[in-house]
Amino acid sequence: LSNKMWGGRFAGAPDAIMEEINASIGFDQRLYRQDIAGSKAHATMLATKGILTQSDRDAILAGLDEVQAEIERGEFTFSRALEDIHMNVESRLREKIGDAAGRLHTARSRNDQVATDFKLYVRDYIDTLVRQIKALQLALVTRAEEEAETILPGFTHLQNAQPVTFGHHLLAYVEMLGRDAGRLEDARARLNESPLGSAALAGTPYPIDREMTATALGFDRPTANSLDAVSDRDFILEALSAGAICAMHLSRFAEEMVIWSSAQFSFVKLSDKFTTGSSIMPQKRNPDAAELVRAKIGRILGALNSLLVVMKGLPLAYSKDMQEDKEVAFDALDALSLSLAAMTGMVTDMQPNRDKMHASASAGFSTATDVADWLVRELNIPFRDAHHITGQVVSMAEQKGCGLEGLTIEDFKQVDERIDSRIHKVLTVEASVAARASYGGTAPANVLAQAARWKTALTGE
Ligand code: ARG
Repeated sequence: LSNKMWGGRFAGAPDAIMEEINASIGFDQRLYRQDIAGSKAHATMLATKGILTQSDRDAILAGLDEVQAEIERGEFTFSRALEDIHMNVESRLREKIGDAAGRLHTARSRNDQVATDFKLYVRDYIDTLVRQIKALQLALVTRAEEEAETILPGFTHLQNAQPVTFGHHLLAYVEMLGRDAGRLEDARARLNESPLGSAALAGTPYPIDREMTATALGFDRPTANSLDAVSDRDFILEALSAGAICAMHLSRFAEEMVIWSSAQFSFVKLSDKFTTGSSIMPQKRNPDAAELVRAKIGRILGALNSLLVVMKGLPLAYSKDMQEDKEVAFDALDALSLSLAAMTGMVTDMQPNRDKMHASASAGFSTATDVADWLVRELNIPFRDAHHITGQVVSMAEQKGCGLEGLTIEDFKQVDERIDSRIHKVLTVEASVAARASYGGTAPANVLAQAARWKTALTGE
């Protein structure tokens, strides 16, 4: 039995191991819709240019619709001997419509075909991811509005620093996610040139119309260099880079969820829907979803790394190495999509423990900066000196075993006699956050304004 696809040149069949290492149908079958859309655009264009007869075109279009329906009904038998999605679809088409199917591959190669399919696929996936990011942002904005006045300890070095509002903290992620969506949209815009018609590497002698197929497939224009078109995989690298940055942001947030939901912190309670129990310890509620989101960056960044290494040093144009682009990319995109969905669920369901957050925010002399600011503002003391005086105040409170609000006015005067009782009103965490009303600051009024701005941007209302 000679080779099924190119029997002309080959007398023998491939070794079983050859078939196994060579075939991509196990994973590229998910490109079937893009592959068929590309073929329909190509056949339509070939007929318009007189390269294909109208009746062949009609047979091809109808046959491809049938193939697609078979795949979607789960009735299609994918064959490893046919290597990949392109040959599987074409071979089935031939079974259905005969010779006309053999004319579909005129002025085309699997090299421009696979680049086209994958670009279409990544483009669609970017659209999905951007929608998912926006859904997560909206969930965060909704919670931020509810928690605009909730006091949370703000940390630097994971040490109590200054109180912030919980809403402000949540909106920080909304900003990051906004940039993540922007990066994906940038990648989409650069990706959107059609490789179709570049053929194997050099273009084609047929009088094809690449503008026509580009337009039919929603591309902005055809690629300008056929060698580049069949060799380019930076569109995936760019999507994966943007995806890895987004996954990194999700990982940071997931880590905070893990910390916040611990018994020691108890800032939030995660819902039953996004936690698991322990098979031995009955009291446990484990933040597994958050932990897995924290971890997914590993495989997403791994995919980026893997593909960069595959592409590095590859001479132009197509080499089979490039078939290694798909599995890792699919896996990474799926992981990011799942992470976004899980995060959206966790954010929507989490229950903040406002009392616990408040108590924790008040601990650790978190309003010390407010004392220093008061000394500057009311007594015109230079900030460096005010910092020193406040340090003495903190040290006194530490010795007395109380918070700053536990110090009497006599205590303050013992440190610096210029201090008067007005100092007491800046010692609360509420006063501290309300005072930080500079643009971008944590004040509840700012949180509400920023949440409203995002809501408008995200819902178009
Ligand atoms: N399955 C191949 C891939 O994913 C399609 C392109 C094959 N081209 C070739 N000349 N063998 O890269």
